[in-house]
Amino acid sequence: MKAAYIDEPGPPENIQYGDVPTPSPDGSQVLIKVGAVAVNPVDTYIRNAPFWELPKPFIIGCDVAGVVDAVGPDVENYKVGDRVWGSNQGLLGRQGTFSEYCVADECWLYPTPDGVDDENAAAIALVGITAHLGLFREARLKEGETVFVHGGTGGVGSAVVQMAKAAGARVITTGGSDEKVAACLELGADAAINYKSEDEGERLQELVPDGVNVFWETLREPDFDKIVAALAPEGRIVLMAGREARPEFPVGPFYVKGCSMSGFAMFNASAEDQQGCSADINRWLVEGKLCPRIDRVIPLSEAAEAHRLQEENTLGKVGSLAGKIVLKP
Ligand SMILES: NC(=O)c1ccc[n+]([C@@H]2O[C@H](COP(=O)([O-])OP(=O)(O)OC[C@H]3O[C@@H](n4cnc5c(N)ncnc54)[C@H](OP(=O)(O)O)[C@@H]3O)[C@@H](O)[C@H]2O)c1
Repeated sequence: MKAAYIDEPGPPENIQYGDVPTPSPDGSQVLIKVGAVAVNPVDTYIRNAPFWELPKPFIIGCDVAGVVDAVGPDVENYKVGDRVWGSNQGLLGRQGTFSEYCVADECWLYPTPDGVDDENAAAIALVGITAHLGLFREARLKEGETVFVHGGTGGVGSAVVQMAKAAGARVITTGGSDEKVAACLELGADAAINYKSEDEGERLQELVPDGVNVFWETLREPDFDKIVAALAPEGRIVLMAGREARPEFPVGPFYVKGCSMSGFAMFNASAEDQQGCSADINRWLVEGKLCPRIDRVIPLSEAAEAHRLQEENTLGKVGSLAGKIVLKP
């Protein structure tokens, strides 16, 4: 089968597109004929400097959607021909998804609802599960509360905006251009701040004088003075980016307000937790409350270019992306 893979960690140029053996499913694994995959920033970190030992060759990528082509002897929930989506491949030493076929344990797979195509199912996979875990497991979001998230057209941000709205919250977010601000409002945000032309702190103060209940930080360099100042009493901070960040922290303002903070990495969430997220995601996809924000769909053979583009946006902040890069074999 064709796959996008690396033999050695390094820059996007290390990604090769060529023939590798087609895997076969074992135990509770499912063989998926891949319809679409999507890029996440973590794919680029793993390609560049893996956090764990990789199979060799290592097929890149976490997210996948497609059709069950074969099942291992212990599979209970899927049969040949079923449509599935999933994430959490290509992580913790597992083989990735950027290939014509991939295997995944059935515990990391979810049924794709009728009417949802593979592009959309792949695009929501990792970012959707992340947004769900952060809003509901970590921040314990309640109806009527206010959520702020940086990057309303980003992969995670666009999912946070829509899920928080689906849960009955008020949502404020940011965009780096007037077009992105408009796109945030189209996604359902109640307000969106152009962080390049407006003072974010001032605008937040005008919009939510009493402070936000949940501040979801997607940036890799959190500014805790600004974050804590923006929080309501007993506000919650969600952190999930910036492994290298060592920012200053305003201890007094944080505890005097009774705030709390949680951090998480979605790939450490149990299969049970991720299954719970997938049920809401599927329901909201069907109800039209969740529309993955796809920037572009390109052939799988362009995986190296996709990594370059993702990297220059997430790390280089060039602002040329507004949503997910989806690839099709
Ligand atoms: N812990 C986890 O489980 C987990 C899961 C998923 C992702 N992550 C991490 O979360 C981060 C975001 O991931 P992603 O997939 O959403 O990335 P992404 O699609 O590249 O989005 C990044 C967003 O950040 C915004 N942004 C950049 N600089 C900004 C600034 N100064 N002020 C306001 N917004 C700014 C961009 O907005 P504009 O385009 O408008 O400039 C863009 O929307 C990455 O570091 C990723 O590794 C962690």
